[in-house]
Amino acid sequence: MKGIILAGGEGNRLKPLTEYTNKHLLHIYNQPMVYYPLNTLTNAGIREILIVTGPKHAGTFLQLLGDGRRFKCNLQFRVQEKAEGIAHALSLSKKFVGNDSCAVILGDNIFEDDLTKEIKAFTGSGAHIFLKETESPQRFGVAELKGKNVVKIEEKPKNPKSNYAVTGLYLFDPNVFEIINGLRPSNRGEYEITDVNNEYIKRGQLTATLLKKRWTDSGTFESLYRANHIAREIHLRKNYGARAHSKISDTKKDPALEFMTKTQLQNLET
Ligand code: G1P
Repeated sequence: MKGIILAGGEGNRLKPLTEYTNKHLLHIYNQPMVYYPLNTLTNAGIREILIVTGPKHAGTFLQLLGDGRRFKCNLQFRVQEKAEGIAHALSLSKKFVGNDSCAVILGDNIFEDDLTKEIKAFTGSGAHIFLKETESPQRFGVAELKGKNVVKIEEKPKNPKSNYAVTGLYLFDPNVFEIINGLRPSNRGEYEITDVNNEYIKRGQLTATLLKKRWTDSGTFESLYRANHIAREIHLRKNYGARAHSKISDTKKDPALEFMTKTQLQNLET
């Protein structure tokens, strides 16, 4: 299976930060944003990854990521000259994917769940998406469900049919490129990934997993802030959780913990 990270777009909702850099190079807690989707893919054993980004800051991606060996993968890059939507960006990976299946991830999506099992279980036919309940479904693609089946997805609906957002990780078979070829631009002038997924639904070939842990995108100041909060907790729990609890008196020696109160340290445990 090939991996594709979509890291183009203008990042309009994060201006002025995106006047001087690409959104996906902004930091989320202690790492550049693009590291998170990269880790989601490499943790699942994906070794061949294409990054699609815009022309303005493509050089900085190369400088940061190189050929991928530091991340235990092979990286390639493609430039999307104009921001024409997620499905258009994905179409640029046709040659790279060939007859393989692909895991496509939006470069600003942070997943707390380890999705290795689901990614590895993908049989390579049809499409698979990941849903998460949200309090603001209007901001996302929203899944209409009948029982456990997704019967339709609506992009940023005014009156959402459910609270289940379609997150930015998609598993596709190679037919995805033929489907994209048949798309027309939406009202906002973009080739929508939601239209691709709806075509898979029509063909009776779309399945979905419900995420258990936290998920966020980071395309607005509020979601960027939330992403930092989640990433910080994940990092501190992973690295210091057990230690913080058992050796609270020693923690002053550790620069990452020295600014935290006793209660904050204890909360890392839960
Ligand atoms: C995009 C997709 C949307 C999806 C979201 C997840 O929205 O169009 O369906 O729910 O990513 O992050 P955008 O970030 O372009 O607003």
